[in-house]
Amino acid sequence: MKTSTKSSIFTGTNSLNDLKQFISSGKYSDVAILVDENTYKHCYPLLGMPATQKVIKVMSGEENKTVDSCLEVWNKLSEMSFDRKSLLIVLGGGLICDMGGFIAATYLRGIDFIFVPTTLLAMCDSSLGGKTSVNFKGFKNQIGVFKNPAAIFIYVDFLKTLNEKQFLSGYAEIIKHALIADKKMFEELNKYKDIKEQIEGLISRSHKIKSKIVYFDFKEQGMRKCLNFGHTIGHGLETFFLKNKSKETLYHGEAVAVGMIAAAWISFKRNLLGKDELDMISSYILRMFPKLIISRRDIHLIIEYCKKDKKNEYNQKMFVLLTGVGQCSINNAVTDEEIVHSLEYYQSL
Ligand SMILES: NC(=O)c1ccc[n+]([C@@H]2O[C@H](COP(=O)([O-])OP(=O)(O)OC[C@H]3O[C@@H](n4cnc5c(N)ncnc54)[C@H](O)[C@@H]3O)[C@@H](O)[C@H]2O)c1
Repeated sequence: MKTSTKSSIFTGTNSLNDLKQFISSGKYSDVAILVDENTYKHCYPLLGMPATQKVIKVMSGEENKTVDSCLEVWNKLSEMSFDRKSLLIVLGGGLICDMGGFIAATYLRGIDFIFVPTTLLAMCDSSLGGKTSVNFKGFKNQIGVFKNPAAIFIYVDFLKTLNEKQFLSGYAEIIKHALIADKKMFEELNKYKDIKEQIEGLISRSHKIKSKIVYFDFKEQGMRKCLNFGHTIGHGLETFFLKNKSKETLYHGEAVAVGMIAAAWISFKRNLLGKDELDMISSYILRMFPKLIISRRDIHLIIEYCKKDKKNEYNQKMFVLLTGVGQCSINNAVTDEEIVHSLEYYQSL
């Protein structure tokens, strides 16, 4: 059963020309481009827009993914008299796509928006699937709606200005797609010497996996939950770092990488995953991502933050577990004790 409307996806070297054609189709009464300070500096010039183009700037950073930032943009759209036939182009990473999508989906009960993702995470994952959101009271993605962009334009040259940590953050979602749905892909990832050489193909394979899942379960009633593999502990960790100003910035994918190892360990302990598979997953992720130091005291706080996760049901923490490499099971209630032990396992590696 089809439950979502797919967005048109334009990829390849011509995608920015496709974007220009899309805007000039005459369909829209007005067009604004939402950027943050970095995408304005590094990506906006590549679009070759006229000097008269309306641009709205927001600040980057999870602490700015808030309703307050949305208010500023809604105000600007209103001041510029944007009507229901206007278009918002979101030029940025997963954060600004999530927030820009939410702004457009709610302004005048919804105007069209398109995504021009500029990070690997946004290209391979977050621009697809129609989840829009902002953080609320310091908790991740608590306010939002499901709505697909009218189109997505993927231009991989934007990745040239992304720093290594941000690039890797996106790569975590590619690993996730392979682990939940494509064993052969995971084995291939293990063999690649330079993932950057393979990136266009990997983005496209990630799309195929995510699109197939989201197409049948847009509102995450069932199988779409598998895309949350690694994300319950991941979001707990992200919230912990967000609330601890003394800690360095932890990127989404870095947190998910830890969450995937922890969830794989719980899968192993429940006899769903073999020891050799657990070892292969842990060693690959640790080869790609620097090890995070998590103290015993921190683990208990992280569990508290996991309790706020949207995926929890009836006060139980619901995990996606692996039933092998390339396959998974959803709706597994996991105890606090299992989470503690899984993070201790991570620390022991
Ligand atoms: N909607 C979904 O399905 C979904 C899925 C996964 C993650 N997310 C969300 O995505 C967000 C993380 O996204 P992200 O990892 O893309 O981070 P991000 O959007 O915060 O971008 C990371 C940093 O890179 C900068 N940047 C972006 N593009 C650049 C470029 N081409 N060159 C130089 N700098 C650039 C940004 O300004 C920012 O400082 C989180 O808020 C997370 O909750 C959403």
